Amino acid sequence: MPTKLAVYPGTFDPVTNGHVDVIRRGAVMFSELVVACAVNIQKEPLFSLEERLEMLKEVTRDIKNVRVESFSGMVVDYVRKLGGRVILRGIRTFADFESEVQMALANRTFAPEVETVFVCASLEESFISSRLIREAAALDGDVKRFVPPIVVQRLKAKAKALKGQVVAHGKGK
Ligand code: COA
Repeated sequence: MPTKLAVYPGTFDPVTNGHVDVIRRGAVMFSELVVACAVNIQKEPLFSLEERLEMLKEVTRDIKNVRVESFSGMVVDYVRKLGGRVILRGIRTFADFESEVQMALANRTFAPEVETVFVCASLEESFISSRLIREAAALDGDVKRFVPPIVVQRLKAKAKALKGQVVAHGKGK
């Protein structure tokens, strides 16, 4: 049976142009794409779940077949709950490949019917990560080339918290 619905999971702390590139590619491939924002307590996100969802909704507003939701727990359970069969992930570099294959194989063990589909993130965005964006923003770097305008604004609003993180990190060394 052809697959109609795909789930693109991530922490999106914050969403970058690289993520948006993957979302746009996925939206062309599937009739319905659910961008699933992970609660992800392990990563202690800078942005709250609500903030991450707000930014994701804003940057995907113009893509008709994309919807944004949150999930906690196992990603495969969430995909099953939606009646989906596909997890979409973007691969930027060779380093991503190893960890992504590991995750895909683990997910397949948990849910053999769920397939992970990879798309190549565009070359211009291939070095961006949310961590790099947070670090550059904390050091007053100009990040507007790498993230959507709403994220630039939200990072500015978080400037104090971001700087605090960098200072705390520096003291720890
Ligand atoms: N462009 C820019 N950055 C990208 C990107 C792209 N196309 N693709 C990934 N990234 C970045 C992310 O922003 C993140 O950066 P950061 O670590 O600096 O914040 C990094 O690459 C990848 O992080 P990672 O944690 O591997 O993935 P993720 O945040 O995108 O999402 C989940 C991971 C949520 C999908 C995964 O942890 C999950 O499924 N959790 C649910 C629990 C579960 O089912 N576990 C079992 C899995 S086997």
